[in-house]
Amino acid sequence: MTARPVVYVTREIPDAGLDPLADECEVHVHDWKLPPGHDRILRRLAELEADGLLCLLTDDVDGEVMDASPNLRVVSTFSVGYDHVDVDEAERRGIAVGHTPGVLSETTADFTWALLMTAARRTVEGNEYVLADEWETWGPKLLTGPDVHHATLGVVGLGNIGATVARRAAGFEMEVLYANTERDGAAEQRLREFGVEATYVELDELLARSDFVTLHVPLNEATEGLIGDEEFEAMPDDAVLVNTSRGPVVDTDALDRALADGSIKRAALDVTDPEPLPGDHPVTRHVPEKLVLAPHIASASIGTRDRMARMAAENMLAGLRGESLPNSAVEDRR
Ligand code: GLV
Repeated sequence: MTARPVVYVTREIPDAGLDPLADECEVHVHDWKLPPGHDRILRRLAELEADGLLCLLTDDVDGEVMDASPNLRVVSTFSVGYDHVDVDEAERRGIAVGHTPGVLSETTADFTWALLMTAARRTVEGNEYVLADEWETWGPKLLTGPDVHHATLGVVGLGNIGATVARRAAGFEMEVLYANTERDGAAEQRLREFGVEATYVELDELLARSDFVTLHVPLNEATEGLIGDEEFEAMPDDAVLVNTSRGPVVDTDALDRALADGSIKRAALDVTDPEPLPGDHPVTRHVPEKLVLAPHIASASIGTRDRMARMAAENMLAGLRGESLPNSAVEDRR
């Protein structure tokens, strides 16, 4: 009997992913609510002489990690983003890298709209107002905010998630602008079929014209700090920024300044820099009037987390069998 491949999983993921792995592999799960950390990942991979690493976006998977086990041949991340994996180093070593695109786009788009609506219509403030027993009467000016319907939505990054967010703008009859590395005629055509006419513009024009700006770019050298002092300055004073991409796409100190001096009206963040954001970070002084925060949960529907787990397992199993990965980060970044 040939030995079963050994897989180290850096956190407990849904059974939809663990079960198929366990059918074919010897699976070792880091059974703790916090990530194992770089040193422990190195140690466990070496001890287990693991063939596969199933990681999360909270793990830093660099060349050192890839060298920790002589047998490592697959890294499969339980996330669509793979900025935490050094894909160049993996490619150099012939290690396959899987990720989970597509399955979380609808759920992440839903949550993006939840944040956008929350920031616009001040639901968190309303909640706190009621609980603080401040609600004395119906008020003509109580917690007023901007309309979402017929406003202008600026989508930065028209990939899977950005386009899915844009599609939902049809129901609100919004004008949709998008900025992207290049104009995407095919995506525009697909949106047209849903009644959305998306107009390609440069980022500075998008920032100047949008009531709501929503970020959907991957994190890389070109997008780190994409939204900083200058960009906030370019936005209208009553603009709302939503970020469900990656925290470092927005310069947090610049956001703090922009909210303080009124360069923009509000922001809603599911992702932050640093992440996790400490509860006493200076930017939290703007909560809840100008800032709404969530702990990186945009893809956190039960069904989507199951689908992500299954896809991460499928990538792992394909790679261990020597087959090409159904969703390879190496291929998808080309
Ligand atoms: C979530 O942020 C992901 O990349 O899956």
